[in-house]
Amino acid sequence: MYPENSIEEAVQRLIERRTVKVIHMLEPGPSDAQMHKILSAAIRVPDHGKLAPWRFIEFNGDARVAFGEVLGRCYQVQKPEATEAQIAHEAARFLRAPRVVAVISRVKHEHKIPVWEQTLSAGAACQNLLVAANLVGFVAQWLTEWYAYDKGVDQALGLEQDERVAGYIYIGSAAEKPPERPRATLDEVHSQWVAPS
Ligand SMILES: Cc1cc2nc3c(=O)[nH]c(=O)nc-3n(C[C@H](O)[C@H](O)[C@H](O)COP(=O)(O)O)c2cc1C
Repeated sequence: MYPENSIEEAVQRLIERRTVKVIHMLEPGPSDAQMHKILSAAIRVPDHGKLAPWRFIEFNGDARVAFGEVLGRCYQVQKPEATEAQIAHEAARFLRAPRVVAVISRVKHEHKIPVWEQTLSAGAACQNLLVAANLVGFVAQWLTEWYAYDKGVDQALGLEQDERVAGYIYIGSAAEKPPERPRATLDEVHSQWVAPS
């Protein structure tokens, strides 16, 4: 179906996947066509009950600047003692990467599909965004920071009652491969189940 070497490469990229932190992100970001592909991968996550328990709000170009005003204002509400410099710093959050996607988890309560499963599906959508961005040739970071947990920001995003931010996925380019970071080894987290004798 796919050439053997492309499968090998895709698996190797998964094995070696590393986040590139937003402070190291550069232009360019994905084109509109590339972004369409990345988002198309995000909506192919497992979704028990066909609920589509997620949606995506993208910030591109000047929208990142405009939303910065919301971030600055909400930060000031949280921290009335914040200095002008701190507010300006918060307002510039989305400018750290060419594209930012807010992944919104939206759950149906009182539904036979547990909320836990609907929430996991939103997490999977975040991960698919990261992986697809990597495969298309970009780098990405999944951040929540304070503004995934702020009522004012939620309101500015137009979130409904059963919606919340699962993460902001920042996507851009990088000049260098990030260094490895300590990780659990497979032996530490994997075991074979053995039937009790
Ligand atoms: C739900 C979620 C929220 C995260 N939020 C933050 C964050 O707010 N700030 C941060 O520095 N890293 C955050 N991270 C961690 C980074 O996305 C990233 O995983 C980390 O830098 C390690 O890099 P790695 O993905 O290469 O292991 C978050 C990860 C997850 C899964």
